[in-house]
Amino acid sequence: MFLGIDIGTSEVKAVLLDTSHRVVGSAGSVLTVSRPHPGHSEQNPHDWWSATQAALGELRKTHPAEYAAVRAIGLSGQMHGAVLLDAQDRVLRPAILWNDTRCSEECVQMMAELPELAQLGGSLAMPGFTAPKLRWVARHEPEVFKQVAKVLLPKDYVRLMLTGDYATDMSDASGTLWLDVQQRAWSDKLLALTGFTQAHMPRLVEGSQASGTLTAEVAQSLGLSKDVLVAGGAGDNAASAVGMGAVQAGQGFLSLGTSGVLFVVTPSYQPNAASATHAFCHAIPGQWHQMSVMLSAASALQWVTHLLGVANEGALANQAASLTLAERAAAPLFLPYLAGERTPHNDANVRGSFHGLNFETDATRLGYSVIEGVTFGLNDGLAALKAAGSTVKRLSLVGGGSRSAMWAQQLASALDIEIVTHASSTVGGALGAARLGWLATGADPHAVCLPPAVEATYTPDAAEQEVLMPRYAQFRALYKR
Ligand code: XUL
Repeated sequence: MFLGIDIGTSEVKAVLLDTSHRVVGSAGSVLTVSRPHPGHSEQNPHDWWSATQAALGELRKTHPAEYAAVRAIGLSGQMHGAVLLDAQDRVLRPAILWNDTRCSEECVQMMAELPELAQLGGSLAMPGFTAPKLRWVARHEPEVFKQVAKVLLPKDYVRLMLTGDYATDMSDASGTLWLDVQQRAWSDKLLALTGFTQAHMPRLVEGSQASGTLTAEVAQSLGLSKDVLVAGGAGDNAASAVGMGAVQAGQGFLSLGTSGVLFVVTPSYQPNAASATHAFCHAIPGQWHQMSVMLSAASALQWVTHLLGVANEGALANQAASLTLAERAAAPLFLPYLAGERTPHNDANVRGSFHGLNFETDATRLGYSVIEGVTFGLNDGLAALKAAGSTVKRLSLVGGGSRSAMWAQQLASALDIEIVTHASSTVGGALGAARLGWLATGADPHAVCLPPAVEATYTPDAAEQEVLMPRYAQFRALYKR
C-alpha cells in the first residue's frame, strides 16, 4: 500500500493506492489563502502540516487496515512557494505562494544582472518563482532575510516534519530559478543572485528516489511504521503527469484548474524562454518536460459565473453549449488575463477585457466568450510549446473544467489535437505522488505509470474550426493593441 499526499493551495489531499492500481481511500483537509495586500498571496506552513495530519487521521480512521500497511509515501505540492526557515527550523514569515505577484521588479533586475538566467533556469524570471521572492524579502524585510538559513518548497516543509530531512526533488526544484535544470544540480550563479550558497538549499533527489524515512516520533503519532520510505515526490504538475502515465516524450496533459497548464514530456532539456514557457525536470530520472502556464483558467469561468448570478460553472457552460456556430461567431471576444499572464506574454500587469459587446450580448454569450478566451490562451500556450520543439498529438484533459464536454470539444478544435478525458477519481497530484512512493520501493516505472482509462475522446471538428480560427486571429491582435 502506498500513500500520496498533495499539498495543494485549496486543500491537502491524501490517497491510498494498492498494488493493483486501485485508489482504496482518499481524504482531504481544506486550506485558506491570505491576501494581506493586493497581489500578495500567503499561507502559514504550519497549516499544511496540520491539514496533512488531519487528512492522514481521517484515512487511519476510515481505512485502518490499508493505512497500517503503507510502505512508502510520495509528496506532491503547489510549486514555487517560499518557506523561510532560521537555523533552528523556525518559520520566519508566512510562505509566499506561486500566485503572488509582488516581485516583478526583482524579476527585471535579475534578468539584467545575469543574461544567461533563462538558459540555466529553464524560464524567464517571473513573479511566481521562488528566487525573486527572496530578493523581495531581502529588500523589504532585511531583518527576516538575515536570519534565513534554509529555503524549502511547500511539500518539502511537510517532508521536514515527516522525516527531519531537508530534501527536494528535481521537478519542484526547477520552479525555484536556483536549479541548473539541464545538469539537475543547484547553480552557484543563480544562487548568487539572491546572495545564497548551496548551504541554503535542501539536498536534491530524483522524484522516484527515496529521500528518507519517518522519524520514530512522527511514525508513532501518525500510526505508521518507522520504516516507511518518503520518496522525493514532485511539483503538482509533474506529479499529475506521473498519475496520468505521462512519462514518455510527447505524452502530456492539459489542466483546466485555477491555473491552465499544458504539460508535455521531452526527452531532453528544451527551453524556450522567449515565449515564456517553462522547461523543467520531470519527476522521472533522465526526463524533462515543457509547460505553459496561464494564470486564470477555470477560475475565469468561476469569476463570470458569480458575476452573472448563474448557479454554477457547469450550468453556464451548458448554456454556452446551446449556442449555434453562427451565434458563437457573433459573440464578444474575451482576453482572460484577470491576474496578469505568464505564457506567452510574461506580463504581470495586463488585465482581462471583453470586446464587441452589443444589445444581443447576454449571460450565455458572455459565458461562451470566457470559455473561448481561455481556450485561445491555451492555444497560445501550445504554439509556444511547439516553437520550443514539442510535438503533441493527443492530450488528457484534467481539472474542474474537464467536466464540460463543450469545452473539451472546443479545445480539440482550437488546438487541432485529440483531447481525451478520464474519470476524475483516477487522476491528480496525490495519485502521482503515491506512484512515486511506489517507485521508491524499487518498482518498474513502466509497470506503475499506466494511463487511466479513457472516458471520452474529442477530435477536431472542421465546422467549429472555421468559426474559431478567425476569432483566434482577432484575439491575438487584441493583446498587441
Ligand atoms: C506551475 C504553477 C502552478 C502551481 C499550482 O508553474 O505555478 O501550476 O504549481 O499549484
